[in-house]
Amino acid sequence: MSTDTTGTHSPAPAPPRPASDGTGPATVAYAPTVNGVGRPLRREPRRLLVDVLRDDFDVTTAATSCSDGVCGTCTVLLDDKPVRACLTLGHEADGRTVRTAESILAGPLGTGLSEAFSRHHAIQCGFCTPGFMVLAAEMIESGRSVSDDDLLDIVSDNLCRCTGYGQIIAAFRDIARGHGLWRNEGGTA
Ligand code: FES
Ligand code: FES
Repeated sequence: MSTDTTGTHSPAPAPPRPASDGTGPATVAYAPTVNGVGRPLRREPRRLLVDVLRDDFDVTTAATSCSDGVCGTCTVLLDDKPVRACLTLGHEADGRTVRTAESILAGPLGTGLSEAFSRHHAIQCGFCTPGFMVLAAEMIESGRSVSDDDLLDIVSDNLCRCTGYGQIIAAFRDIARGHGLWRNEGGTA
């Protein structure tokens, strides 16, 4: 307890904490562009990209589940390449472009992706769906042709705990076919 000048007792001062505006000593400045919105930030160097997305950009489709790089629910496109936002530091996105399922679904690919997932019942609880949408968008934008075995490789990056991969692969095959990317090699998927 400490005593103030009025003679009343007041609690001991709290230990110093980083300033709420992020201007504390151990911070770095960086400026990612997320879904078309650029924003300068000053945050602790260890702050993860997934926290930057959710807390600084109000992007909620990138979610943490395992926090270990395994499940893929945090998958986003960083300069058009899929990354795990739970394993990527926020400042690694400095000057770079991040896209999440929000902007993908709102863009020209969105309707086709949604319809394919819906047609093949590739969504149940939907927790994994944004991550798969990100992978599907990358597949389309890369323009590479894909066989069923390639689709198996792509979807095995992410975990779905309830739908089953048959439906998800069927949706991916439909999407690839619709973009002239599917190669029929009689694969195993
Ligand atoms: S939360 Fe990032 S891979 Fe699982
Ligand atoms: S639909 Fe529930 S985890 Fe994939």
